[in-house]
Amino acid sequence: MAEFTLPANSIVKTGKTYKAAAGVTNIKVFKVYRYDPSSGANPSLDTYEVDMDTCGPMILDGLLKIKNEMDATLSLRRSCREGICGSCSLYINGEAHGPDRLITTCQLHMRTFKDGETIVIEPWRAKAFPVIKDLVVDRTAFDRIQHAGGFISVNTSGNTIDANAIPINKEDADESFMAATCIGCGACVASCKNSSAMLFVGAKVSQFALLPQGKVEATNRVLNMVKQMDEEGFGNCTNTGACEVECPKGISLENIARMNREYLAASLKG
Ligand code: SF4
Ligand code: FES
Repeated sequence: MAEFTLPANSIVKTGKTYKAAAGVTNIKVFKVYRYDPSSGANPSLDTYEVDMDTCGPMILDGLLKIKNEMDATLSLRRSCREGICGSCSLYINGEAHGPDRLITTCQLHMRTFKDGETIVIEPWRAKAFPVIKDLVVDRTAFDRIQHAGGFISVNTSGNTIDANAIPINKEDADESFMAATCIGCGACVASCKNSSAMLFVGAKVSQFALLPQGKVEATNRVLNMVKQMDEEGFGNCTNTGACEVECPKGISLENIARMNREYLAASLKG
């Protein structure tokens, strides 16, 4: 049944303010989403005045400075800090990974924002990505979709054909490689008004569908991955293309179209 009201604890309240030290004039103001579901309290936006003269050049440096020097209770994730793991993913001033295109949160420079500008930092918010604490969300729904079919089984009995011996035309190889650059960050879900994961799943299906090695399990792969996607609570594609715009890796909507073709063909076989 459709629900038209939000739970009372979804209202974001004004939180605490952490002022810069006396005499500090070069500041940027961070407003950061704070939420601990186990507390029963509403989420809040805490305000931090960050001293830019002693801060690194990236947005992530600002958040780490807050955690290390102002408020150790803040939870956030990051790992590679070079756009390949997707763990840093955040909403920044209302845009997934911030206002710059084709980068992840950890690649976003502080200089993108004007002096004195307030920077609002929030986690992804989608039913299938529940907030664990503050800026950390649970994206294991993506892992379960991958486990449902995002792999190729290879007979390793000793008779495996060398991958380089299988001819693949360049256009397909390039498109497959492009699809494989999806880092599973979830920006496509976060930017979709229907929290659709179809760009992610489309990329994972396309990566294998374009290669001869992926054709063997193609039917079950697309059926199982789409089934898992639906079970996780992701919505349907809205055809508005927000996912493609916000994707840090430039994954194209063509991958959704390819997944739909694969799905139709697999359903007719089944
Ligand atoms: S398709 Fe793009 S936005 Fe979506 S998970 Fe992959 S890299 Fe992130
Ligand atoms: S920390 Fe790995 S993509 Fe940002």
